[in-house]
Amino acid sequence: MNIFQTTEKTNHLPEKYKTMSVEELEGRVKEIKEKLGKRLYIPGHHYQKDEVIQFADATGDSLKLAQLSADNRDAEFIVFCGVHFMAETADILTTDNQTVFLPDMRAGCSMADMADIHQTERAWEKLYELFDDTILPLTYVNSTAAIKAFVGEHGGATVTSSNASKMVKWAFKQKERILFLPDQHLGRNTAYQLGVPVDEMAIWNPQENQLEYDGPVEKIKVILWKGHCSVHENFTTANIESVRKKYPDMRIIVHPECSREVVNLSDLAGSTNYIINQIELSHPDTSWAIGTETNLVNRLIKQHPDKHIISLNPYMCVCLTMNRIDLPHLVWCLESIESGERTNVIKVEETISFHANLALNRMLAQS
Ligand code: 13P
Ligand code: SF4
Repeated sequence: MNIFQTTEKTNHLPEKYKTMSVEELEGRVKEIKEKLGKRLYIPGHHYQKDEVIQFADATGDSLKLAQLSADNRDAEFIVFCGVHFMAETADILTTDNQTVFLPDMRAGCSMADMADIHQTERAWEKLYELFDDTILPLTYVNSTAAIKAFVGEHGGATVTSSNASKMVKWAFKQKERILFLPDQHLGRNTAYQLGVPVDEMAIWNPQENQLEYDGPVEKIKVILWKGHCSVHENFTTANIESVRKKYPDMRIIVHPECSREVVNLSDLAGSTNYIINQIELSHPDTSWAIGTETNLVNRLIKQHPDKHIISLNPYMCVCLTMNRIDLPHLVWCLESIESGERTNVIKVEETISFHANLALNRMLAQS
C-alpha cells in the first residue's frame, strides 16, 4: 500500500523550473542522484530526449524496461522516463514498497488511448458470440493497465515489438484465433510474417463496435483492433520510393508499428532494440534510412559518424508525448521525492494490477 500522497491528476510544472538554467537543472539531478544512491532508479526509453537519457540508469525498449522493473527490488523510487503505460507496467511489476513516478503525467500514448476498457468489453461480448471459446486476447504493452487486466483475466498475455512473433505463436497454441489490441499494424505484420494470409485477418472497429471483414467469419484467424501509432503512420511507401531513388545502396529499417506496405518494402523491421543492434553491427560506411521516432534516429546519427544515417521521412517529428519528459520535469519530480511530497505517482488499482500481472508474467515467462 502506498502511504504517501499520490497525485493522479495532471499537475503543472511550477514556474521556478521554467527559469532555471540547464546547468542548474543538471546540477540538481546529479546532487539528488548522488544523495539517494540505490534508493533511486531511473529507467529511460530509447525515444527519450538526450537531456533526459543522459541521466538514465538503464535505457531500453519496452521489453527490456519491463524486465528490469520486474528484477529491481532495491530501488524505493522509480522515476520512469517514458510514457504512462510503461510507468503503469513498472508499478504492476514492482513491489508495494517501491513507488513509481512519471515526471509529466501528460506523457500518454495516442495508440494506447485508441482502446478503452469499455470498448474492449463490448467487443469481447460480440466476438465471443461469433467465435465462442476459440479466441484469445493479446495486447501490445502500449495499452492501459485495465486492458492488460482484461487480457490477463481471459487467459491472454501482453506482447512487445521484441517478442510479438513468439507471443503470437504461443497464443495459437492455446486457441484457434486471436484478438490483437490495440495496434493493427504490429498485429498484422507479426501474423503475416508467421504465415497468416491477410484475407484471414479481420479488423475490429471500436467506434462502430463491429467487425470489418469480407468473407465467411470461420476463416478469420486474427482480429486486429483498429488502432495505430500516430508517429509511425507517418512513414509511407512514397518515403521508401524516394529513398530508393536517391540512395540506391541505402538499407531501410523500420519499426513494426509501420504499415504492412511499408514493412514489406523495407529491408528490415524490428523493435527499437533491434534497430539499434542492426546499426551497431553494420559495417562502417554503410548507409541507413530509419523509420522510427526522431530522438532515437538523431542519437544513432550522432553515435555512428562513420555511417550515413537518415530518417526515412525527412519531415518526421518526435513523439510528442514521449517528449513531455524533459529536464525541468525530471528535476521537479526528483525534488518532490527529496522533499517527501511525491508528485506524479503512478499507482495501479490492486485488482487491475493483479490481473494485469498475469498477462505480463505470461509474456515475461516466454521472453
Ligand atoms: P519498443 O520499445 O518495444 O520498440 O516500442 C516502441 C514504442 O512505440 C514505445 O512506445
Ligand atoms: Fe505511443 Fe507511438 Fe509515441 Fe510509441 S511512438 S509512445 S506508440 S505514440
